[in-house]
Amino acid sequence: MSTYTLDTATSRANPTPAPMRRLTAPAIQQRKGGEPIVMLTAYTARMAQLLDPHCDMLLVGDSLGQVIYGLPSTIPVTLDMMCAHGAAVVRGSWHALVAVDMPFGSYEASPGQAFENASRVLKETGAAAVKLEGGEAMAETVAFLTARGIPVIGHVGLTPQAVNALGGYRARGRDEAEAAKIVADARAVAEAGCFALVLEGVMEEIAVEATKAVSCPTIGIGASAQCDGQVLVTEDMLGLFERTPRFVKRYDDLAARIGEAAAAFAAEVKGRGFPTEDQIYRSPK
Ligand code: KIV
Repeated sequence: MSTYTLDTATSRANPTPAPMRRLTAPAIQQRKGGEPIVMLTAYTARMAQLLDPHCDMLLVGDSLGQVIYGLPSTIPVTLDMMCAHGAAVVRGSWHALVAVDMPFGSYEASPGQAFENASRVLKETGAAAVKLEGGEAMAETVAFLTARGIPVIGHVGLTPQAVNALGGYRARGRDEAEAAKIVADARAVAEAGCFALVLEGVMEEIAVEATKAVSCPTIGIGASAQCDGQVLVTEDMLGLFERTPRFVKRYDDLAARIGEAAAAFAAEVKGRGFPTEDQIYRSPK
């Protein structure tokens, strides 16, 4: 039950909800095999305000590169972008755990590099966790961060930051060797200390095997309903893009609705149906 009033009456409102009772990394970890974990991406304060009451975790995904900035992939996303959007999402939420993606190039070189940049993310955003892509190769880094107080979400299977090495965004684990490697990756980062693990773009059998193999909750995206939770890119699920991955269920058709609203506005302005300032500010009481 909320004990505060959240002022979102106008786009200029500055809500400061209190008390802040967020879900924690240990609380999420304990949900393994229990109530399914709900996670959506958020990149802005307003979207965070709208999603927060319904989510256990908000992910400031590096998918913002494509969704917000129109970039061709997540590769060009910077730490500055992640910090700015991470801070906005933390300001717009009060219940969900906020996790921020570590962008490509900010953590792979060494555990030390990862700590320096992940600690900057936590300091500058107020988020409670970071997410990083990679399996066995990242296990040492995950252990280094978690031993130093940085909760980590792992991400294995289809890892979009490796698009150049993978040759595209196709589902992973199509042959036995690749499937076994994904399960080994999941096990490695989970044993290194991840409190949750994103499984992206893998067949149902792999999701089942990986979910059984690890002690932390798995959160699927294009990985069937057999994981401990589900994440989607919010703009995909809202239908903001005409083309979405096959596994995405659309819960709305915002692209069409925004187009209709913009067309109605344009028609009113052109037809002078839009009220003038004079009409708005000087109308008789
Ligand atoms: O960047 C992102 O939005 C993600 C999710 C798709 C899991 O990593």
